[in-house]
Amino acid sequence: MKAVKIKPDIYWVGAIDWGVRDFHGYVTPNGTTYNNYLILDEQVTLLDTVKHDFSEITIDNIKSLIDPSKIVNVIINHIETDHVSSIDKIMELTPDATIYITDRGKKGLDRNFDTSRWRFKIVKTGDVLNIGRYNLLFLETPMLHWPDSMMTYIKEAKLLISQDAFGQHLATSARFDDEFIECASHAELEDSVIDYYANILMPFGQLIKSKIAEVQKLGLEIDMIAPDHGIIWRREPERVIQMYLDMVNGKAFLKVVMIYDTMWHSTEHMTLPIMQGIKDEGIDCKVIKLRATPMSVAIKEFWKSRGCLIGTPTLNNTMFPSVAEFMTHLRGLRPKNRIVGAFGSYGWGGGAVKEAYEEFKRMGLEVVEPGMQVVYRPSTEDDKQCYAFGREFAIKVKEYHKKFE
Ligand code: FEO
Repeated sequence: MKAVKIKPDIYWVGAIDWGVRDFHGYVTPNGTTYNNYLILDEQVTLLDTVKHDFSEITIDNIKSLIDPSKIVNVIINHIETDHVSSIDKIMELTPDATIYITDRGKKGLDRNFDTSRWRFKIVKTGDVLNIGRYNLLFLETPMLHWPDSMMTYIKEAKLLISQDAFGQHLATSARFDDEFIECASHAELEDSVIDYYANILMPFGQLIKSKIAEVQKLGLEIDMIAPDHGIIWRREPERVIQMYLDMVNGKAFLKVVMIYDTMWHSTEHMTLPIMQGIKDEGIDCKVIKLRATPMSVAIKEFWKSRGCLIGTPTLNNTMFPSVAEFMTHLRGLRPKNRIVGAFGSYGWGGGAVKEAYEEFKRMGLEVVEPGMQVVYRPSTEDDKQCYAFGREFAIKVKEYHKKFE
C-alpha cells in the first residue's frame, strides 16, 4: 500500500485488514480498514493511529511522505484499541509531539500506556488548532460511541474526520465512495453502512441526531467525510448523513425477519407456514437460523426489517440458549420502531414464548400478542394456525409501517 492523497497536503496513511473476521465478537466477513490521516502543513499533524498489528504499515506510509520525527501534533479522536494501539510506536519516532485529545480520552489512555513521557493538550468542542494553512476544529461526540470520542473538522478543506461514525467494515482497494461503487455497487456500500450502524451505533440514535443538528447549526460546510473505517465519502457525503438521519428517524424496510433456533425441528417447521402467511400478505420475509448465522448478521437483518418474529423452543422452561443470547444482545442495542412477536414449540411446561415477549416488552417494542405455540410436533391443524398467525402478523406490520411513511 501507499499513502493516498485525499485533499491538498492531506493523506490517508492507514492500513487494510483483509483477514479480520471477528471484530470483538462482531463478524466482519469483508474485513475492515483502520484509517488515519497525515497533514503536511507547517506543523505536520497526524490524525489517529491504527490497530497495533498494523503499526509498521502506517509508519511506512508516513515515511513515504515525510520523516515521522517531523510530526508536531498527534490528534487522537478515539481511544478504542483499533485506533490508538499504535500510539506508542508513533511516539517513539516523534517523542516531542503534542497529543490533542479529550479529557476522557486522556484518562483512558493513561490506563493503557505509560503516558508520563508524552505531552498532552486537552481539547473540547469549539477549540481550534492552527497548523499553518489549515485550522482544525474539535467536536466532542461523547458516546459516539465511547465517552472519549471526538471528531476533527478541517475548515479550509471542508473535511470532517469522523472517527467511527459513517464508517463501514469493508476491506477494499477502493479508498473513496465513487471508486467502490464503480467496482461494486451502491447497494453493497449502503448495506455495509447499515450493518455498521446496527451493530455499533444503534443505541446512540438520539445522540447522533443531536450531533448532526449541532454540526448543521455551526454551519460547517462538509464536502468530504473521512471515517476511521472503510471508504471515504467524497462524492456524496450528504448521502451517508441522510442515511443516518433516516435510520435515527425509524426508517426500515417493509419486510419481516424470522429469527429462530430449534431443537428437534418443530420450531423450524413452524417457520414454513408462518413465512407463507407473511408472503401471501405481500410482505417479503427472511428466515434466519441463529446457530447457522453470525450474531451480527441477525442483528443487521433485524434492523433492516420493520417486523421481527422470534422462534424458540422451550428448554428448561426458558428460551433456547442461542435465542436468549440474541435477545440479550438485542436489548443492549436498545432497538426502536420495530414490531415483534414470538412463536415456538414445547413438550410440557412451555415458557420460552412468554419469556420472549417479556424481553420484547422490556425493550419497549411494539408487540403482537398472543404468540403461536405448538406442543411437541406441529399437526396439520397447527400448520393452518401458523399460516394464519403469519398473515395476521404481516397485516399488523403493514399498519405499523404507515407511521413511518
Ligand atoms: Fe473503530 Fe470504536 O473503534
